Amino acid sequence: MKCIDCKEEYEEQPIYRCEKCNGLLEIEFKLSADDFDIKKARKRRFNLWRYKELIPAKKIVSLNEGGTPLYECKNLSEELKVKLFVKNEGANPTGSFKDRGMTVGVSKAIEFGKNITTCASTGNTSASLAAYSARGNLKCIVMIPSGKIAYGKLAQALIFGAKVIAIDGNFDKALETVFKISKNENIYLLNSINPYRLEGQKTIAYEIFDELNHTPDRIILPVGNAGNISAIWKGFKEFYELGIIDKKPKMTGIQADGAKPIVNMFKNKKEYVPEKNPETIATAIRIGNPVSWKKAINAIYESDGYAESVTDEEILNAQRLLARKEGIFVEPASAASIAGLIKLINEGIIDKNEEIVCITTGNGLKDPNVVADLYKNEIIYVKEEDVENLIKNM
Ligand code: F0G
Repeated sequence: MKCIDCKEEYEEQPIYRCEKCNGLLEIEFKLSADDFDIKKARKRRFNLWRYKELIPAKKIVSLNEGGTPLYECKNLSEELKVKLFVKNEGANPTGSFKDRGMTVGVSKAIEFGKNITTCASTGNTSASLAAYSARGNLKCIVMIPSGKIAYGKLAQALIFGAKVIAIDGNFDKALETVFKISKNENIYLLNSINPYRLEGQKTIAYEIFDELNHTPDRIILPVGNAGNISAIWKGFKEFYELGIIDKKPKMTGIQADGAKPIVNMFKNKKEYVPEKNPETIATAIRIGNPVSWKKAINAIYESDGYAESVTDEEILNAQRLLARKEGIFVEPASAASIAGLIKLINEGIIDKNEEIVCITTGNGLKDPNVVADLYKNEIIYVKEEDVENLIKNM
């Protein structure tokens, strides 16, 4: 483990920040082409553990995560005049990319001899941690912002048997609280500040190359606590260092207008300032003080990428567009990547004909209420005897 600021190195151990300067930690590999043979890996089953030589954990707790579909979106590509693929992380076991982090993180909890896991969450992290903890026979405590998580995610945390603590405050407050309780030595903190989580999530990059056989021009994804953009960038950098790819993509992060500290920093070339009262319909990314902001901004600058924000209306329009043009149903936060793509095309930041992979991070069924409310007027109520007539006139 290495501090991204002061570069202090640590042996593998359950710590979350640099003990010297409080910086974020990263797992560093001394990589050589002899350690990993992509041809050999490709003969294995298509899931995250295909890349086991590059993952610093033993596969102890798994639900067959990763190996998610990369859809070529012909209808939207034609409409938007770019070459669009969607990597649908909603196809993971608990319906979000968090499962990639949790198979590694919960395996690590067991390796470190912990018996309780914890996290703060806007929903998906808690659903995933609860599932993997159940499978690993660990107790799990999740801290959520009261009333501000989608119903499907809450249902998952509950059915998987986690102790669900709803706090009066937002995600940022919940994260502060779990930091305090994770000082207890039986407890392992599995928010994305935990660098092992990112070691699982970086495989999104590996898989994109694995399926396309080349690197796309750009990756677009929603940014909340800023772990995933950092993880995916790390994955591409590692494949580059291993000589597997000869080009890296532009990392493009999308936040909601009401929760955009990283976009503010990027666009105004200013110091990082947290957002005190984050607000958006995309509750998954309703985060004002993303813990990994520094890693995320590094990823954006190093990759010559971009950061943009979108309104709730743009998010909901993009959610409908992706569903109706491509048959892919994603939760609002995930639709932010498509909304961001459209905005950046209109602003001229994205060139026509660019090859783009949008990461859709969570399944639409996680948040049914948003859709049920918005589209309830589309239901046609008729008496049985009137159905035939109605269809004739359609
Ligand atoms: N998309 C979805 C569906 C998410 O659940 C999250 C984060 C993100 C995007 C943003 O990813 O935090 O790595 O930048 N959800 C967290 C949670 C915060 O608690 O489930 P990030």
